[in-house]
Formats: sequence, structure tokens, C-alpha cells
Amino acid sequence: MSPRSARGAFDLSEGIHSTTEIRPGLRMPVLGLGVWQTPAGIATEEAVRAALRSGYRLIDTAAMYGNESDVGRAIRHSSVPREELFVTTKLWNDDQGYEGALAAFERSRSRLGVSTVDLYLIHWPVPGKREESWRALTQLQQEGRARAIGVSNFTIAHLEALARVSEVTPAVNQVEFSPFLFQAELLEYCCSHGIQLEAYSPLVRGRRLDHPVIGALAAAHGKSPAQVVLRWDLQHGVIPIPKSTRPERIQENSQLFDFELGPSEMAALDGLDEGLRMAWDPSEIG
Ligand SMILES: NC(=O)c1ccc[n+]([C@@H]2O[C@H](COP(=O)([O-])OP(=O)(O)OC[C@H]3O[C@@H](n4cnc5c(N)ncnc54)[C@H](OP(=O)(O)O)[C@@H]3O)[C@@H](O)[C@H]2O)c1
Repeated sequence: MSPRSARGAFDLSEGIHSTTEIRPGLRMPVLGLGVWQTPAGIATEEAVRAALRSGYRLIDTAAMYGNESDVGRAIRHSSVPREELFVTTKLWNDDQGYEGALAAFERSRSRLGVSTVDLYLIHWPVPGKREESWRALTQLQQEGRARAIGVSNFTIAHLEALARVSEVTPAVNQVEFSPFLFQAELLEYCCSHGIQLEAYSPLVRGRRLDHPVIGALAAAHGKSPAQVVLRWDLQHGVIPIPKSTRPERIQENSQLFDFELGPSEMAALDGLDEGLRMAWDPSEIG
């Protein structure tokens, strides 16, 4: 399988500042910090600050996480120019529908304290509502309020259904993705349709980093298990958004650009797939 048929592999020559084009003229960092379950308040602010110090430029939050204001405060008080930052937030299920999505976007934008959101995602494919939510997101993009729009937890069936009712293709699909949930078919589909895949729970929430295959690769490269798994994402052309509240781990998770996994090492990690999920399975959603 050639997973990069339409989008091409990442150019990682800029290290942590590497980006990939997700829309004409719009580039997205290839690594981000996730802040789900990072407590609102100072913990989120400090995690974002630590990430910016380590060179991250993409921050992934959501209305549902309850910490958009803290992300906003951290980026406003940082010395990194706004145009270098890439802020993603998401439309929660209760707010789906055309009017609901427009209103929810404005609440998120105001909590973040930004004039434009870089990427706005439909968090989950809520049946009967997601098409109208998408219509609202396309309007937000047309009006320049969101620089890019996308989806999360969409399967191939959800993406195909969306393509039947809208000419606007999501720039990004954020899904659970790890060596233990290697969604090769979805990756191939997204690549060939110009949709950037983004990996949530890329570290399997820390629960499988002691796997011997990962441990052996980490030892061979003098890297940590987390770094091996995140590098695997990058070499598949997938953007990982690991979460941590600890500055030393935030930094560790960013040091991915000074080693490379060989083809047999990538295949060994691909082979760990067991369909393991930390979150709900969206294929159950019609
Ligand atoms: N779209 C969606 O539906 C959806 C769903 C889930 C998540 N997400 C996004 O994806 C992000 C990441 O996913 P996630 O938070 O579920 O899981 P994750 O990033 O796979 O794992 C986070 C867990 O791993 C630990 N950890 C972090 N770095 C580590 C390291 N180097 N070594 C060992 N353990 C480490 C963290 O603990 P410490 O904090 O104590 O370091 C935390 O418990 C979220 O924050 C969120 O932004 C999106």
C-alpha cells in the first residue's frame, strides 16, 4: 500500500517547525499538543506555555474540554506571533445543526480570544445533524472566520455520505490512531481524497508504551517508547497531538526529528494493530 498517494509524505526538514499544506496557502504544523483532560485554569496555561517553549505551534482544544479560555490566555501572553500559531477547536455534539454550530463557533472564538480559528472540526458525526453543521462550517470558512474546517471521528462511510451532499471536502479528519489501531484503509482513503489525517490518543493514553516491540525500537534508536510511536505517525504522514501536563514529557514528545524508522521497523509497528480503542467506535454511528 502506498499511503501517501495524493498528499505526499511530510517534508520534515524543518524539524519541529515542519508543516504540511492542508488548503491552498494554508500550512498546518505536523505535531501538536492536545489538551483534553488537562484541567482548566493554570494547568492548561502551563501546558500550552511549555509546548510553545518546546517549539510546538499547533494546539488542539475543543468546546467540550472546558479549557478554551486557558488556551487563549496562554497564546495571547506568549511571545510567539499569532500568525505562527495554529489553534484547533471543535463543535460539540449538543450544538450541532446549522444555527447551533454558528452560535457555538462564536462562543469558542470568544473564549479563545482570537479573530480567526485556524481549524474548526465537527467533533463527532452526529446523525441527522452533521450535514447542517457542515453547511455552517463551510460558511465560517467562506467568511474567513475559520481558516480551515474539518471533521473528527468520521469513518469512510461518514466521509462518503458528506461528499454526496457537499462539494467542500474536510481539510482534516481527526481520529483515534496508533500502532494498536492502525487504520490503514481510512488513512489510504483520506490520502487519496486530499484529507489530512490527524491522530488522537496517539500514545494510547500511555497504556501500551511498555510493549516489547516498541521497547526494542526505542532502545535501538536511543529514544523513548513515546517518541518511537509518534515518529511512526509522522512517517505515515499523520499529525499526532499527544497530551501531557508535564513539561518534561511535552518536550520529550517533540523530539522526533533526529531519527528515522526503517521500512521493517515501520512494518513491525504496523503489525501491532489489534483494533484497540480508547474512545467510542464511530463506526457504530450511522
Ligand atoms: N477528537 C476526539 O474525539 C478526541 C478524543 C480524544 C482525544 N483527542 C485529542 O487528542 C489528544 C491526545 O489524546 P489523549 O489525551 O486521549 O491521549 P494520548 O495523547 O495518547 O495520551 C495522553 C496520556 O499519556 C501520558 N503521556 C504523555 N506523554 C507521555 C510520555 N512521553 N510517556 C509516557 N506517558 C505519556 C499523559 O500523562 P501526563 O499528562 O501525566 O503526562 C496522558 O495520561 C487529546 O488531548 C485531545 O486534544 C481528541
